[in-house]
Amino acid sequence: MGASRAIRVGTPVEALETPVLVIDIDAMERNLARMMSILAGTGLSLRPHLKTAKSPALAQMMIRAGAVGVCCAKLSEAEVMANAGITDILLTSEVAGVGKFERLVGLAGWVPNFKAVVDNAHAIRAIAGLSRAQGVTTKLLIEVDVNTNRSGVVSAQEALALADLIAETEGVELLGVHGYAGHAQIRPMETREPVNEAAMTTLEEAVELLREHNHSIPIVTGGGTGTSELDAARGVLNELQAGSFLLMDTAYRDAGVPFELALRCRSTIISRPAPDRAVCDAGQKTMSHDAGPPEVEGRPGVTYRRGSDEHGSLIVDPALLDRPLEVGDVISLVPSHICTTVNLHDVFVGARNNVVEAVWPIEARGHIW
Ligand SMILES: Cc1ncc(COP(=O)(O)O)c(C=O)c1O
Repeated sequence: MGASRAIRVGTPVEALETPVLVIDIDAMERNLARMMSILAGTGLSLRPHLKTAKSPALAQMMIRAGAVGVCCAKLSEAEVMANAGITDILLTSEVAGVGKFERLVGLAGWVPNFKAVVDNAHAIRAIAGLSRAQGVTTKLLIEVDVNTNRSGVVSAQEALALADLIAETEGVELLGVHGYAGHAQIRPMETREPVNEAAMTTLEEAVELLREHNHSIPIVTGGGTGTSELDAARGVLNELQAGSFLLMDTAYRDAGVPFELALRCRSTIISRPAPDRAVCDAGQKTMSHDAGPPEVEGRPGVTYRRGSDEHGSLIVDPALLDRPLEVGDVISLVPSHICTTVNLHDVFVGARNNVVEAVWPIEARGHIW
């Protein structure tokens, strides 16, 4: 029989079986309030990216706090959010292939304020053809590469050519531009500011050219956790796509962004083979390592060295321990990269004052198709 995980509200956090992701609800709420205060009065609205939280419950919480809608990275992620009743979704990754275009147009006919980014004429024509066949108009945003060297058109002229094509094609409607400065996000402020400035100037030039040619561009969207304050001050974007700010990770903490670490993975010491080594039950299937190993919190002298599939190998410096580290002890691990760590789990446990207050399914985890 398959195991299912029953976690009850009211359980003390110390009693939870590990490994388990625990959200400090107070810290998460402070992060959300902080983001809303950064954006207040600036003309920049929050459209959080759900590639981080992957949970309809957390998405609804951000909408209740004032987010204008959400971003999703994949159609399947968007379908989970649509099923949960979210009515304003921006798909921020291009798709290709007939099946994908059909699902995209399906979302356009289902979700009142669904829109998707495009960066090529092939996609525009395919989406338009299927939209006409379904009797819907699919709203599109043109993705501009703002020096990230990922997807997106690489010049304002190319953006204009696509805008003209959308304008003259029945079944699609131009709603704006999207330019995500991913390369600006996790950097020290000295370089974050000029790199983001160059990115926003690139986006601004495309917006201006499109507007000069009578394309109305109501949505200018992009930005993330690292650039939130810069984007609020710069005034090019009117929607901010930040996602990591809600739960945070050590990569962003080390870059000095103004949000708190709000999620830990609790993990048990399962072996103590030598005075200078210990092993915990959280390996790479529990904590992602793409941005380096997780950090052990509150245990001086204990460092996470590397994870194998299901084991976390820890180095112990006995001289630095403030108390013995023993088999059965539970340690707190802070993720180095929140998005890829959350994607490994089925549920978040939300806790306040170390008591479980909520269990939130991470319904879109693994939804990469
Ligand atoms: C297109 C897009 N927008 C927004 C984000 C969210 O950014 P952050 O994790 O910095 O909050 C990402 C993250 O990778 C992204 O790819």
